Amino acid sequence: MDIKIRIEKVVSGGLGFSRIDEKVYFVPFTLPGELIFGEIYEDKKEYAFVRVKEIIEKSEKRITPVCPIFGYCGGCQLQMTDYKTQLSIKKDMIEESISRIAKIDIPVMDIVESDKVFNYRNKGSFQVFNGSKIGYCEPGTTDPFPIESCPIMEEPINRRIKEFLTIEEENKKIEGMKALVIRSNFESKIIDSTIKKDWFIENVAGLNFIVDIDTFFQVNRTIIPKWLGHIKDLVLNYKVGKGLLDLYSGVGIISQYLAPYFDHVIGIEINKTLVKNGNKALELNKINNTKFITADASRFYSLGFIYDTVIINPPRKGISYKMIKSLIQSKPKVIIYSSCNPDTFARDIRQLIAGGYSIDYIQGFDMFPNTKHLEVVGVIYLK
Ligand SMILES: C[S@@+](CC[C@H](N)C(=O)[O-])C[C@H]1O[C@@H](n2cnc3c(N)ncnc32)[C@H](O)[C@@H]1O
Repeated sequence: MDIKIRIEKVVSGGLGFSRIDEKVYFVPFTLPGELIFGEIYEDKKEYAFVRVKEIIEKSEKRITPVCPIFGYCGGCQLQMTDYKTQLSIKKDMIEESISRIAKIDIPVMDIVESDKVFNYRNKGSFQVFNGSKIGYCEPGTTDPFPIESCPIMEEPINRRIKEFLTIEEENKKIEGMKALVIRSNFESKIIDSTIKKDWFIENVAGLNFIVDIDTFFQVNRTIIPKWLGHIKDLVLNYKVGKGLLDLYSGVGIISQYLAPYFDHVIGIEINKTLVKNGNKALELNKINNTKFITADASRFYSLGFIYDTVIINPPRKGISYKMIKSLIQSKPKVIIYSSCNPDTFARDIRQLIAGGYSIDYIQGFDMFPNTKHLEVVGVIYLK
């Protein structure tokens, strides 16, 4: 069925949003104020998804995307507008999630911008198909889109893609593979998943980290110092106690940055390799008051790690109800919560507020320009 609608705003997921009567319509790749004609491709009782056939009235903020396959590969959702507008859309996205899900009214600070808007990603995950072509696959589809480069990847990653596609010997290395990961570091060194267990040293915010081809590391090196600097300022502003507990610590980037400001720091991370690499990095960075432990972070209470200052930086799904209960029980005086998903962040802070906490500060960081993704940081404290 076809429909003509005007986009009211852009919401979580980078989706244009419109409401007609009691029904909500989500329209990818549209901007506030635009009048579009499109077809409904998924229709439910309370909401529907619409694919644009024609933009009848364009937003003055609409620009020509840099990437020729924007809209097809599933990677970027906001390249159709300038960076300033992207930042304002992302701030609105956080505000909308907070008021709809957390049901609180609190001002959200302006988004902290990334120094680089293109060529910022230090990690690319690609599909290999038709023997040895490289591409992206739009979520929910099975046909990869071939690429020769990607404008949001760091240049060394694009050079490596070109080598795989144009040099026979390199092309043979990816023949028959299904997935290909390429990473670049601060000195443009490259590792890729044609070599198992490869690793390099990454340097960010003055600290060294061991990064494996297949373990988590923040993807946008250019914004990390600003993000860590803000977390440090918040921690020092609210600082209580001599110890810091860093839950979901990864390779320990937050713990190690904050280590000089505490007597001791404990990081809890479920991935053994990240814990091993985190503990090795402590030697590289000459930090001797910090320790990383392999465990499920939601067990921190039963493991006896009860601290007044807690950092939480979980995956997109947010924190479990078990962890919410443990936090409410162990009563840390201040929790700095950094999340890459405003919806689960809003859900979790709602539960913490119901458990007696207040929230004081919410700010987004644009770690992922041109995409629907962002990082949001909040301070949750006991009065
Ligand atoms: C968003 S990353 C953040 C890592 C780190 N704070 C950083 O900035 O590099 C989330 C981390 O949580 C870890 N993780 C996922 N589930 C976990 C759990 N139940 N307990 C502890 N760590 C977990 C993942 O392995 C990943 O390293």
